[in-house]
Formats: sequence, structure tokens, C-alpha cells
Amino acid sequence: MFEHQDVYAAINGKSPLPRKVEIVHGLLRERFDFIDRVSVAVYEAKTDLLKTFVQSSDGDNPLALYSSRLADSASMKEILRLGRPRVVNDLDIFSNVDAEHAKRIAARQYHSSYTMPMFLNGDFFGFLFFNSYRKNVFDEATLHYLDMVGHLLSLLVIHELSTTRSLLAVVKTAANMTEHRDVETGAHLDRMSNYARLIAREVAKKYRLNDELVEHIFLFSPLHDIGKIGISDTILLKPGKLTSSEFDTMKTHASKGGEIVDMMLENLGLSEFPHAEILRNIALYHHEAINGSGYYGMMDGDIPIEAKIVAVADVFDALTSERPYKEAWSVDRAFLFLQSMAGTKFDIDCVNALINRRDEVEAIQKRFLEDSLG
Ligand code: C2E
Ligand code: SIN
Ligand code: SIN
Ligand code: FE
Ligand code: FE
Repeated sequence: MFEHQDVYAAINGKSPLPRKVEIVHGLLRERFDFIDRVSVAVYEAKTDLLKTFVQSSDGDNPLALYSSRLADSASMKEILRLGRPRVVNDLDIFSNVDAEHAKRIAARQYHSSYTMPMFLNGDFFGFLFFNSYRKNVFDEATLHYLDMVGHLLSLLVIHELSTTRSLLAVVKTAANMTEHRDVETGAHLDRMSNYARLIAREVAKKYRLNDELVEHIFLFSPLHDIGKIGISDTILLKPGKLTSSEFDTMKTHASKGGEIVDMMLENLGLSEFPHAEILRNIALYHHEAINGSGYYGMMDGDIPIEAKIVAVADVFDALTSERPYKEAWSVDRAFLFLQSMAGTKFDIDCVNALINRRDEVEAIQKRFLEDSLG
């Protein structure tokens, strides 16, 4: 009675989404050996960006850490307009299109693709791609099977996305309840999270950060100071230098942040959520210094990369912003400061990532100007 083994049982566990996608891809290949790549791109309506999110393939990832505007891709828009998947059995027809993603796919010698739009309650939230190095592989029988697997994959993605979103919603609501007393404006959080994503992308190769991790660092970085909820107004909003005992109190915002995150994860039943650790590490360790002079005295090798990234992003924005206790510094001055502490306080790669992408840094500053309250 129990001879049959459910082949998909492997996805019942709590492995991260990229691992589950790999498992599904592996099972798919047992039946259809020509499916060389499975990937998911998630759509963000606010920015019209389509971002690679998860992928499984043998070779390197042709679209690693890539995002493009949906408006720039005629073929993707057409799929959406029709609301139906698209089969291409000879990707040569794409060789002279201008869409960057199609070019990259062609450059990797994929010759067939099956693209499914993903919907939740009728709302489009991304695409699922099945690619093959071979031509003419997607016949009706294959597609019928892929449709089922595709829907399974899209449910896995939805589950992951909605978990992240409810976690963010709860933590942000808590942060907003104290916003009227927070010296860190919305513009600061937008800028620093964009700097964090910029740095994460630049160091992704070295620290083996996949798209999904980069995205979670971006999403969770604005919550680094959530623990300031627990600091009194007298200290938080003091218009001058803090005394050393006030500063000791201020420093407890890191451990308080960790406690708040843990409490929320527990109340939401999300303690086992694979990316919860990123949020926890950011709240707890964003004031660590690599020479051990930070709040907890952790040394370089023990500090999680997400905390090193957020430290540089946060300090750079704190320096280039006005605070009740200081004037805004110029980009040059802030870069010199970061450089002078690179290798002692800050991670060198993270500092260089910002300095090497000054164009992007300035674009982020322009995009998120200080609001009138700032
Ligand atoms: P914050 O304003 O978000 O600053 C984050 C970090 O940016 C600071 O962490 C520090 O590493 C760096 N930073 C900010 N402004 C300056 C600056 O003028 N010079 C230099 N060298 N670094 C700067 P830190 O020092 O651990 O402070 C944590 C938080 O404590 C700050 O967050 C702020 O909320 C508060 N704080 C720190 N110093 C003062 C102060 O003198 N007066 C007041 N009212 N608050 C302060
Ligand atoms: C992709 O696989 O990311 C896009 C390629 C296509 O146009 O099918
Ligand atoms: C991954 O997304 O591949 C790693 C999961 C994690 O460390 O949270
Ligand atoms: Fe902080
Ligand atoms: Fe901050």
C-alpha cells in the first residue's frame, strides 16, 4: 500500500525557494531532459520592473541580478496583453530584437522557450521561463505537463513573496506608529535601501548572493533601526551631542531591534522562514565594525555580509544627510571618510562598491530628495 513514493515530497521541507526550484527542475529533467533552465522573474508594478528572482540551470546565469522595465519589452507585454503563455521553438527569431533579456538568452544558446505569466487573484506578478538548448522541444504533451509544474512553481513563489510581504507589512506598521518622532525620514530609508541593493549587487559574486538574497537585503534594510522605537524622545531627538551615558542607551537600539524582530517572527509563526535571519542580522549587527570596535565587538569573519552592507549604506546616508546634531556632508567628504575607515571599520568591498558607482549613488540621491519634513 505504501510502495509509491511521492517524488515531490522533497519540496515539503523548509529549504529556501532556490533549492525547491532546483528540486522541481531536477524532477522535470528526469522526464524531459531537454529542459535546461527554469527561472522566475518577479514584477513590481510601482517601478514597472521585472527582476530575475530565482533560477535553476547548469551553466552560469545569463540573467543574474538583472532587471528591466516591462515597458521596454514588446514580447513580454504581448504575453500579458493576451494573458496566455508563449511558446517559442526557435529563439533565432529573437536574434535581432532589442530587448536585453532576449539577447542574453540568445547569447547563452538557448533555442526554445516556454514563458508563462503568473497571476494571483487576477493580478500579474511575474513570469516563469522554461528554456532549452534544443530547438522544437515544446510539443503539446510536454506543455500540458509543464503547465501543471508551472502552477506548482508559481504557488511556491507566491508563498515566499507573501511571507516576505506580510513580515514587512507588520514590521513597517510598527515603525510607522512611531514615525512622527523618528529623525530618519522616509527619504533616508529609500536612499539607504537603494544604496544597500547597489552594494549587494556589486559584491554578489564574491559573497555568493543570489538575486533573492539581494532582494531581501533591499527589502529588509529600511528596518535596520526598528529598535529606535524603544529609545526615548529625549535621547532620540536631542538637538546636540549625546553624553556618553545617553549614547550607551542609544546603542541598545540594536539589541532592542533584534528582540522586536524575534517577537514579530514568533507571533507571525515565521520563525523558520529562511530569510528571517537576514532581517534579524540587519537589526542586530548593522553597527558592527570589522576590527571588533562595534556594538557587539564582533570580528570581520563573524559579521554577516548583510550587516556589513547595511552599515556602509546607513552611514553613507547619515553622513550626507542633515541630522538634528549635524550638517549634511558632501559626497566627496563622505567617500573620503568611508575610505579612511575601509578595512578597519567598514568592509573594503562594500565601500568600493559605492565609490565605484558614484553615478548610481548620485542618481539615487536625485531620485529620493529629502521631503519637506526632512
Ligand atoms: P544615525 O543618525 O542613523 O547614524 C548612523 C551611523 O552613521 C552612526 O552610528 C555613525 O556611525 C554614522 N554617523 C552619523 N553621523 C555621523 C557624523 O556626524 N560623524 C561620523 N563620524 N559618523 C556619523 P552611531 O554613531 O553608532 O550612532 C547611532 C545612532 O545614535 C545615530 O543613528 C543617531 O540616531 C544617534 N546619535 C549618534 N550620535 C549622536 C549625537 O551626537 N546626537 C544625537 N542626537 N544622536 C546621535
Ligand atoms: C528569460 O528566459 O528570462 C527570457 C527569455 C524569453 O524571452 O523567453
Ligand atoms: C538562498 O536563498 O539560496 C539562501 C537562503 C538563505 O540563506 O536565507
Ligand atoms: Fe542604527
Ligand atoms: Fe539609519
